[in-house]
Amino acid sequence: MTEIITGKTKIYCIIGYPVEHSFSPRMHNAVFAALNMDARFVAFSVKPDQLGEALTGLKALNVAGFNVTVPHKSSVIPYLDEITPLAKKIGAVNTIRNEQGLLIGTNTDISGFIRSLGSLNFSPENKSIALLGAGGAARALVAGLADAGASRILIHNRTVEHAESLLTEFSPIFPQTQLESVSMETLQATTLDLLVNTTTVGMESGESPLDLSQCQEIEHLADIIYSPAQTTLLKQAEELGIPAINGSGMLLYQGCGAFTFWTGKQAPEAVMQEQLLGWKE
Ligand code: ATR
Repeated sequence: MTEIITGKTKIYCIIGYPVEHSFSPRMHNAVFAALNMDARFVAFSVKPDQLGEALTGLKALNVAGFNVTVPHKSSVIPYLDEITPLAKKIGAVNTIRNEQGLLIGTNTDISGFIRSLGSLNFSPENKSIALLGAGGAARALVAGLADAGASRILIHNRTVEHAESLLTEFSPIFPQTQLESVSMETLQATTLDLLVNTTTVGMESGESPLDLSQCQEIEHLADIIYSPAQTTLLKQAEELGIPAINGSGMLLYQGCGAFTFWTGKQAPEAVMQEQLLGWKE
């Protein structure tokens, strides 16, 4: 990042509501500084009913690129000029590039998640995977893991109808993946290559979304929660000797993916990682 802001300084941002606790400004400004780029990254709190005005403004002001977070990841899609095929299937966009006035959207959350599985030496192809939850994060993961070649995806959710509506939507789009909504008992009795927690359980309370000791066999586990760094579920996985990761890799790699999508440059991961280590929400 150059020290002085000039007329040529490129502006990037994140829009969300709320957005004050976002890690992205810290991460991307550190990268701009490390690469001596004439660019800055800021956060804008955009209320849901002002999303259209915000996008018109970002385009008019020629903002170079931006991230989109909750609650705008799906509602932003109608405002885009182009969307990558997987982001379209997922129905959620978290990264947008301004290409000479055209807004191009993609989803780096899912590529970030799949990349984070690399630290478990895990690739979704031909694997049986179970997801806990059927909200926005689960939606992206079902589509992303099916797209990456998972052979079977079991979904367990507190509200069964939410899991079933994911199946109804995604089964025809991903016919090569067997998608099922299952009870906790069925999930626990199934041998799984990977179990992923996408629910918010464990974020604030010390609760766990399931009792791992009651599960038949789980080879790997991922919790997409990154704060706390070790949820009760991850602690239980450690005690049972199940290789596991939290959501910090997904957070890091979605940022790497966004930086590359905006600039075409390789992201300096070590710089981003350092920011993540020093970050307290
Ligand atoms: P996100 O966009 O992060 O996925 P979300 O869309 O609000 O967030 O989804 C939260 C998920 O956590 C849902 O699957 C929710 O289950 P319901 O569909 O039944 O609401 C799940 N969840 C939240 N609190 C839960 C709890 N106490 N027990 C079980 N599941 C819970």
